[in-house]
Amino acid sequence: MSEPINIAVLVSGGGTNLQALIDAEAAGSIHSGKIRLVVSNKPGVRALSRATDAKIEAACIPSAGVSGDVFEEKLASLLDEHHIELIVLAGFMKILSADFIRRYPDRIINIHPSLIPSFCGDGFYGLKVHEAALAYGVKVTGATVHYVNEITDGGKIILQKPVSVRKGETPESLQAHVMQNAEWIILPKACEMVCRRLQTEKKQASSKSKSE
Ligand code: GAR
Repeated sequence: MSEPINIAVLVSGGGTNLQALIDAEAAGSIHSGKIRLVVSNKPGVRALSRATDAKIEAACIPSAGVSGDVFEEKLASLLDEHHIELIVLAGFMKILSADFIRRYPDRIINIHPSLIPSFCGDGFYGLKVHEAALAYGVKVTGATVHYVNEITDGGKIILQKPVSVRKGETPESLQAHVMQNAEWIILPKACEMVCRRLQTEKKQASSKSKSE
């Protein structure tokens, strides 16, 4: 049996997607990885107490009022300390720099609450995504899990799930609908898929180095 991949989950708010990951790990549907660390860039958020309730190490590195470089240096050293191999952005509302992202090639994934390439990119986050979808009048929206690269919401897509827009929908009701019927399903699934890939790559790398 391979060792599970060490996961860090980055959050900024309610943490319902973090909860979906915690529940999936407890249920065994995430078994190729283990959540070792939860980091919030905002103090006092519900996501942090969800982590401590689940006995996962939780840390806050406030991003307000500090330069991006200082924030990212602190974050990188915390991730190194915990030997993190996969970073999951689960409602993390800060854009990471290209330099930071390059340190973790194909090792950062993000959940976005629309069907990319619709309603994504700079300025599209949280409720704003659902406001824009309703204003446009789409009949179908959904969620996407993708790899993170230097282009906001521009990395390779891992999983998507569509959700119908119901009559009389408000941004808030649509947000809840998309979370329950798409986000909380595809994020744990994608996380397990990526952990499995990383485990396979690790095994191949170690057998290659043994045969050299
Ligand atoms: C989720 O809907 C997530 O997809 C979205 O913020 C919400 C966080 O909720 N993320 C983005 O908009 C990123 N661009 P949560 O804290 O309850 O998981």
